Amino acid sequence: MIKSQFNIAYITVFLLISSFALASENAIIDPSARFHPVVSDRGMVVSQEMLASQVGADILARGGNAVDAAVATGFALAVTLPRAGNLGGGGFMLVHLAEQNKTIAIDYREMAPASASKNMFLDAEGDVDNSKARFSIQSSGVPGTVAGLLHALDSYGTMSIKQVLQPAIELARKGFSVTVDLSSSLQARQATLHKNAASKEYFYKADGSGYQYGETLVQKDLAATLGRISKSGRSGFYQGKTAELLVAEMARSGGLISAKDLSGYQVVERTPVCGDYRGNSVCAMPPPSSGGVHMLQMLNILEGWDLASMGHNSAAYIHRLVESMRRAYADRSSYLGDPDFFPVPVAELTDKKYAAGLREQIDLNKASRSADIRPGLDGISAGKESTETTHFSTWDQWGNVVSNTYTLNFSYGSGISVAGAGFLLNNEMDDFSAKPGSPNGYGLVGGVANAIEPGKRPLSSMTPTIVFDGTGAPILATGSPGGSTIITIVMQMVLNHIDFDMNVAEATAAPRIHHQWLPDKVFYESGVSADTLQLLRDMGHSLNDKTSRLGATQSIQADPSGTMFYGTADYRRDGSGVAVPAAD
Ligand code: DON
Repeated sequence: MIKSQFNIAYITVFLLISSFALASENAIIDPSARFHPVVSDRGMVVSQEMLASQVGADILARGGNAVDAAVATGFALAVTLPRAGNLGGGGFMLVHLAEQNKTIAIDYREMAPASASKNMFLDAEGDVDNSKARFSIQSSGVPGTVAGLLHALDSYGTMSIKQVLQPAIELARKGFSVTVDLSSSLQARQATLHKNAASKEYFYKADGSGYQYGETLVQKDLAATLGRISKSGRSGFYQGKTAELLVAEMARSGGLISAKDLSGYQVVERTPVCGDYRGNSVCAMPPPSSGGVHMLQMLNILEGWDLASMGHNSAAYIHRLVESMRRAYADRSSYLGDPDFFPVPVAELTDKKYAAGLREQIDLNKASRSADIRPGLDGISAGKESTETTHFSTWDQWGNVVSNTYTLNFSYGSGISVAGAGFLLNNEMDDFSAKPGSPNGYGLVGGVANAIEPGKRPLSSMTPTIVFDGTGAPILATGSPGGSTIITIVMQMVLNHIDFDMNVAEATAAPRIHHQWLPDKVFYESGVSADTLQLLRDMGHSLNDKTSRLGATQSIQADPSGTMFYGTADYRRDGSGVAVPAAD
């Protein structure tokens, strides 16, 4: 069963442990590269939290496929990465099945409750009440994560619910050692989380103080909820005791999610959006994510230039990136929403001719002004909220691939936990456009396409992606958190890989750029030279202050024969990691 090219027993490896000797035996990674990924010939799991990656790798070692590993990792992250891993949120999973040569997009995005309404977040003056949209009980959509993960397992996995849930239950019941990341993120969110008695109890010590690095966090109520899911499947969450606790929480605090909303939650399988980019096929999440459509739109614009010859992160290159981003995000504000409610013009937006027209508008020496691209509003600032979503990728020895991004929206979601059930609720309702032109937590604006309607899914930027080479072989799985910045981050992973020939570690390490039309600012990480920034200013670009970091990609690259896998957890977050299955 195990394809073993090299007689080397792999054990779990952390981030930067490079395998120079192995890499040099395999042409796909240049032995002289400055950054090396983790290497395995047995598949791998990359996530933002090492224990959860390990859970997935153990599932692979026991003969599970990439979907089994992804589902186990997803449930484990709900325990070990509570700011983004979740039961109370939603997300998107791309599954590539090797044998059928088929890629499926599983949409388990939250849905607006039946009693939600268009103006529910407006105050008496008709302005958006941001605190209500982001931190109240009404900010939560009907959670989709449990239904989504179980749908994936049931449809494409090979293991039982009990097998994949057991590690998460153990982690919650016995506890696990708190990471620097968990300790510091709980500290950063303390004011919000302390406002809710259940969150305070679940994530802080009895005296209200935070857990320190190395201390043990036990989550008994969460273990019990996971136990009910393990025993009863979907109805262990959407019906019975868990549902009763959630509905009781709603009743207590004025929330909208009803028992009927929960039992009626629907996972939707969609066709991924795929587009050709320099002979490769880039497949990503379709609406209600804006990610796939706009990544392809931007790639289509960029394909018209020889980017490699300009040099990575040169002013000429960044100018083209920014101008493409500006135009795609302008379109996002008008045309993107839940396709079950609004006719999203996917084919038009991803059309190469449309992109060519946009490319022609771009002055190669001068920045455009966002206000000229489409009538826009000034004074919108990008969200300053601490944001959190998380991506994980799994790949098995048979060539099945999973690329999954899920979220509570903000870090620790609404900050409100379901008392007695041990999990946090999302604040995904803020991803709707509460009022036309009024920015959400990420500075994104929208209109009728993304207005709140009962049963509708809020527009997302999450962009789980799988890239295939010209022969159709999967070569890269990637994705990232980062709210509005997700799409541009994931696109740069693709560009770094395809145009600049970087391996997955180099592509991850490279400084990232972001523009989203409004605000009319170029965001950039440290590592872009001062000379380059000055050239951009000279072209008329308005630069934001340096951004500390953009996103956290968790990626796997494979050689087209599908025998060697190269993983990189993003260096931008503490605690993330690549895990590979131990040899028998
Ligand atoms: O779906 C979306 O686009 C947002 N709710 C994602 C939030 C996010 O990425 C926060 N993470 N950094």
